[in-house]
Amino acid sequence: MRDNSGHRNKAIGIFDSGIGGLTVAREIFRLLPNENVVYFGDTGRYPYGPRSPEIVRKFARQDVNFLIEQGVKFIVVACNTASSLALEYIKRIYNVPMLGVIEPGARGAIEKTASNRIGVIGTHGTISSKAYDKCLRALDGSLKIYSRACPLFVALAEEGYIDRPATRLIAEDYLRDIKRKSIDTLILGCTHYPLLKKPIADIMGRGVRLIDSAEETARATRQALLESALTSPSAGPGKRQFFVSDSPDKFKKVGQLFLGKKIGKVGLVDINSY
Ligand code: DGL
Repeated sequence: MRDNSGHRNKAIGIFDSGIGGLTVAREIFRLLPNENVVYFGDTGRYPYGPRSPEIVRKFARQDVNFLIEQGVKFIVVACNTASSLALEYIKRIYNVPMLGVIEPGARGAIEKTASNRIGVIGTHGTISSKAYDKCLRALDGSLKIYSRACPLFVALAEEGYIDRPATRLIAEDYLRDIKRKSIDTLILGCTHYPLLKKPIADIMGRGVRLIDSAEETARATRQALLESALTSPSAGPGKRQFFVSDSPDKFKKVGQLFLGKKIGKVGLVDINSY
């Protein structure tokens, strides 16, 4: 095994198109409280979901350049769209170990399904990339997979429209076809969807388990750090730093909803210079 003793004190870098990756950060903070973390949210160029693969790759590369400048030991691509469209690309360019949210979510779903019928919901970018389908099929060729883009869920979650009649109507419409497929497991393949667990669970019914890729990714991060001897040696709480590419005040305000607690200082980064 590589001697990583010099890297263990360094931070985990997390990036996302904006605020949503805080659902992943929240689970990482919970599971790995002693780790230092640098979070970058690309709020100035959000959303990534409707963009082309080329642009998402370019953005992801700049996000990684910023995190590497912060001296991170490990990078978590918390954004499903960036994981779907850019993870393989950035992994080829950099030496820093990286993890996206797709594989942990796919593995979580395979562990839970009994019927081998799995649903996936996400942004247009994630669903049209077929990243979850490819990953699921590579792990188990016998699976039946049904996907649906649910782009409006992102705005609803950011507006705090969680348990509102409008959210329910939109969710019913989005989930109608997938519900007819008798799946028993549904992957919430977008950073924002864990906030809408309740209406989604109500509509899908008791027989369908929801897979929160944020939780699965936090577990996979811990596992990857352990396997590469990169866990923090510190016994005290880790330092958490937040950076965005626009509107730090809005990030602080809306971010609380995603992180489940107040966010302190937020730095502003000129991401186009990376
Ligand atoms: N973070 C994105 C994802 O998980 C959702 C928001 C966006 O479209 O940028 O796919």
